Amino acid sequence: MDLKNLIYTVENNIATITINRPDKLNALNHETLAELGSVIEHAKNDEKVYVVIITGAGEKAFVAGADIEELSKLDSKRAIEFSRFGQSVFDKIENMDKLVIAAVNGFALGGGCELALACHIRLSSDKARFGQPEVNLGVIPGYGGTQRLARQINKGRAFEYILTGDMIPSNDAFRIGLVNRVYASDELMPKAIEMAQKIISKGSFAISASLKAINAVHQLSLEEGLKLEAELFGECCDTEEFKEGTEAFLEKRKPNFRK
Ligand code: COA
Repeated sequence: MDLKNLIYTVENNIATITINRPDKLNALNHETLAELGSVIEHAKNDEKVYVVIITGAGEKAFVAGADIEELSKLDSKRAIEFSRFGQSVFDKIENMDKLVIAAVNGFALGGGCELALACHIRLSSDKARFGQPEVNLGVIPGYGGTQRLARQINKGRAFEYILTGDMIPSNDAFRIGLVNRVYASDELMPKAIEMAQKIISKGSFAISASLKAINAVHQLSLEEGLKLEAELFGECCDTEEFKEGTEAFLEKRKPNFRK
């Protein structure tokens, strides 16, 4: 793949996508977003990839937002396309049938916070700062922030952070449930890899079924969600993984799901 603004590596079944525009604090211009969409599609279709980690290049930023230079040139019609395009890339991440972990190594502002929110699990460096500062530019979040932040940390807090544009330090991000865990910066990637490896050791069908069922929580009524859960539970029971998992337990040995 010919990538200008991302670094993409695959090692031990873990794909790492590094947003790589450190001189612009990894701001997402159109080209970077398009590359991100292609790389996600690629990782989704690569049988060797079981988990994806997204992080930012350099010490300072995960992603400091959409590229404000590009943003400043938008008129209303193009702004809607701009928003829908970013949303479509982030939807691809959220709806991926493989786990996507955000390893947030620094500023995660605007589109950076929205990118992290689209990932299934957010791990944060103690130096990271989150926020939706779009109001300072006279706009609102356009890559899913109004929806995903409100769903992730509750509506009242989303009003506060989106209306003030205040930054959220990592310890507060943890306290309000925006991130799963906070680590010292030099521990962030090793811990992300450790979590990826742990999840890789489980059955891949059960992982993708879990992602699908949990993702449905904001799309379905409780009744419909429970029906989906029962269907996926049933599908799991038809797999070799289920046979292996239950046999291993009964034989008092560790299961080997990825034979
Ligand atoms: N879009 C485009 N360029 C950006 C950017 C963005 N979202 N965020 C940072 N940059 C660029 C700066 O313009 C600067 O470029 P330059 O060296 O060519 O002038 C470079 O990245 C470094 O940023 P700088 O502002 O000098 O770093 P800082 O440490 O003083 O401040 C931030 C860091 C994150 C507080 C500040 O860059 C910022 O507020 N960025 C915008 C955040 C934002 O509003 N995001 C939402 C966008 S919708």
